[in-house]
Amino acid sequence: MISFSHLIVPLVSLILFTVFLFKWYGNPSSTARKRLPPSPPKLPVIGNLHQLSLLPHRSLQALSKSYGPLMLVHLGRMPVLIVSSADAAREIMKSQDVIFSNRPKLRVIDKIIYGSKDIAFAPYGEYWRQVRSICVLQLLSNKRVQSFRRVREEEMSLMIEKIKCSSSSSINLSNIFVSLTNDIICRVALGRKHIDAQESTKIVSKLKEFQELAGFFNLGDYIPWLDWINRVNGFDANVEKLARWFDDFFEGVIEEHRDRKKGETNVIDSSNEVDLVDILLEIQRENVAGSPIENDTIKAVIFDMFVAGTDTSSSALVWTMAELLKHPKSMEKLQNEARQVAGSKLDITEDDLDKMLYLKAVMKESLRLHPPAPLLLPRESTQDSKILGYDIAVGTRVIINSWAIARDPFSWENPEDFCPERFLDTGMDYRGLNFEYIPFGAGRRGCPGITFAMTVDELALAKLVLNFNFALPHGEVEKDLDMTESPGETVCKKIPLLVTVKENDKY
Ligand code: HEM
Ligand SMILES: *[C@@H]1O[C@H](CO)[C@@H](O)[C@H](O)[C@H]1NC(C)=O
Ligand SMILES: *[C@@H]1O[C@H](CO)[C@@H](O)[C@H](O)[C@H]1NC(C)=O
Repeated sequence: MISFSHLIVPLVSLILFTVFLFKWYGNPSSTARKRLPPSPPKLPVIGNLHQLSLLPHRSLQALSKSYGPLMLVHLGRMPVLIVSSADAAREIMKSQDVIFSNRPKLRVIDKIIYGSKDIAFAPYGEYWRQVRSICVLQLLSNKRVQSFRRVREEEMSLMIEKIKCSSSSSINLSNIFVSLTNDIICRVALGRKHIDAQESTKIVSKLKEFQELAGFFNLGDYIPWLDWINRVNGFDANVEKLARWFDDFFEGVIEEHRDRKKGETNVIDSSNEVDLVDILLEIQRENVAGSPIENDTIKAVIFDMFVAGTDTSSSALVWTMAELLKHPKSMEKLQNEARQVAGSKLDITEDDLDKMLYLKAVMKESLRLHPPAPLLLPRESTQDSKILGYDIAVGTRVIINSWAIARDPFSWENPEDFCPERFLDTGMDYRGLNFEYIPFGAGRRGCPGITFAMTVDELALAKLVLNFNFALPHGEVEKDLDMTESPGETVCKKIPLLVTVKENDKY
């Protein structure tokens, strides 16, 4: 009896201690202590996938209205953190940016872009830092963008001529803009001065195909055992085919550059117009970067410039013109500004853009309502962390709904209205410091192509409204203009923007 009661205290202590250990370190019960963000109820196997429409930024915004600015949705079995407020975005892209600067591995991207050797999808780390800094230094910095001025001016003149000479009654602006941005990228990245229209069209259509196949909501990424479906329905075969097409194309381009430069010793110093491929080949030859540049790196980086730079810039222009056609008062105000700035020289050059405050406000407002990449690019955390009081596990995929943030009534007055004036007397900018407004993302992974893109878009817009008066064809009125979005990573206007133009005789 005595000996038994003697044992009770240590026994109970041992049990308590074990339970205590389990509570603190044990697997099953430790998750119970974690405070997870709210989640909508999910179905077996597919999780919340059924709640995403073809325009996921819209369905996710609707869900976040019920579940809050930080919610955990389940795509298949994978928990994905959805960020829908400026405060939460600031926490992730500024305060804890280091932890959230990785990108998830995506199957199709991996397949087509050489195992994600590009900038946009490379995992966070030394390799990514190196290729990104090469590209920024050689193509995207203010100084380099300045140096392509002649290319832009020539391509703008071609665009204006094309519109002036068009014999058809209506002009397809969607088509004009995608050629403009694609031709400019082709010239500065590939050095093709005279890409023929056929080649240009081919690239554009292949890029479109890529956009369709590479959706980030690819089922195979979330429900791995459904992979076999992609094998039997031809999806994998299409991906394979597209990857081969791009590889052949880039292989040809690189070959061309190697041949052209044979004999010349130092490309970068030569006075010829130097393009990005030249520079990457030169860096490869000299091995000046910390580690050798592989052939695949060159192709992947060039690929990025096309994917990241073409559709986004042209889509922004299409949306801007569409909004201006819907809002004749804004169009008139912009045209007045353009005429005033052009003055007696009857033309607008890049030097004039800084004087065009209304133009800049128009572009900003258009990017607010129609960010070409509404969900930015997905991120992935590399450590356990705490965001707004919630525990976020290492390896969590993160999607930032910049579209929803830019329409959040908490930050924006009448958020659904197109009103460029709202930007006139604020310092609000898209360079990643104002988290209410992040069409280009922010932080380490933010878009490095802002200056490149905006110089093209602003100049194009200025020249267009100076030279022409636009109207909708077939007696359509403003309210008929369809603003439906097309599904895809880059959200474009679904129905191509057709307009009639009247030349402004003076210009
Ligand atoms: C209006 C035009 C453009 C828009 C709206 C846009 C938007 C974006 C967005 C939202 C991201 C992801 C940012 C993030 O995850 O935080 C991004 C990344 C990127 N953009 Fe852009 N972009 C545009 C034009 C361009 C151009 C012209 C280029 C280059 C020629 C470019 C190159 C890139 C690259 C390389 C990345 C990946 C950055 C990284 O992961 O480190 N973009 N862009
Ligand atoms: C307008 O151009 C776009 C983009 O090139 C193209 O997809 C579309 O078919 C064209 N539409 C018309 C009516 O010409
Ligand atoms: C890169 O391609 C060139 C020509 O196609 C080839 O001679 C060279 O060996 C390749 N380099 C690497 C590292 O694969």
